[in-house]
Amino acid sequence: MSLRVLTDTDRQSKLEKGQSRILAQLDGICKKFAGAQHNALEDIKIEVFQKDFLSIVGPSGCGKTSLLKMMCGLIKPTAGTISWPTSNFQNSPENPANLSYVFQEPNLLPWMNVYENIKLPLKIVKEDTYSADEKIYEIIHLVGLQGFEGYYPRQLSGGMSMRVSIARALVTQPKVLLMDEPFSALDETRRFELSQEILKIKKEKNLTVVYVTHSIYESVYLSDRIYVMQPNPGKVFEEFDFSGIEKNEDYRFAPEFFEQAKIVSDSLQRAQHA
Ligand SMILES: Nc1ncnc2c1ncn2[C@@H]1O[C@H](COP(=O)(O)OP(=O)(O)O)[C@@H](O)[C@H]1O
Ligand SMILES: [Mg+2]
Repeated sequence: MSLRVLTDTDRQSKLEKGQSRILAQLDGICKKFAGAQHNALEDIKIEVFQKDFLSIVGPSGCGKTSLLKMMCGLIKPTAGTISWPTSNFQNSPENPANLSYVFQEPNLLPWMNVYENIKLPLKIVKEDTYSADEKIYEIIHLVGLQGFEGYYPRQLSGGMSMRVSIARALVTQPKVLLMDEPFSALDETRRFELSQEILKIKKEKNLTVVYVTHSIYESVYLSDRIYVMQPNPGKVFEEFDFSGIEKNEDYRFAPEFFEQAKIVSDSLQRAQHA
């Protein structure tokens, strides 16, 4: 199966065949910030399937960050609903462990070492020390930070700091990882390295990932599905489905990869002038 625009009929048939289950459904989402003249987001309909790697791609200012913030309850939509139909977890501050957020900047606390930074969310939910320690070391291994536990943020490179930030997000054992342009400050080699890591972690931890980026190559490499957004106001322009495409290391240099990147790139161009 090759890359294509997902139509309502395709989506319905995927769901009916049980190939996908909806984890989160954003329906008719609008957002108007206080004092703003216009809507930042308008009539957004997005479905997140379980175990999906879903990317949201769009130009700066089209509302990607606002969408992620709404998904984790940091801000509220002006209209529309966000529901989690197949799971019993609520999109609520009372239940933060199911959903973690990785920001664009690592945001590490400079006076805490790597170990303490990763432990922070467990301290907040008052996890006891023994099991906390076990979880922290498991995650440290998973993200390749072993040996760096005692380092302070000022002693770490950008890539290593981002690993700590990802580890901190994973330590509460979330089911869903929301990532907001996490690798945009890194050079090409580190970006690729960390993309590979994220795919590995996603598989190992059975995660659903919602990934915001403006990088077409990154989104095509990583995603099962992509939503391309248009700006002013932010709306979904097109949706792509990559299911059935084998994503291994060779894929990054395969002709299909470049073809697919071109399709998404064209879509983004059209979205910008829509
Ligand atoms: N807290 C806020 N108050 C007012 N306007 C905001 C706020 N947050 C975002 N916006 C506006 O909403 C639009 C979408 O922003 P954002 O979600 O950050 O987009 P993106 O992440 O795609 O760059 C922008 O026009 C931005 O200026
Ligand atoms: Mg943003």
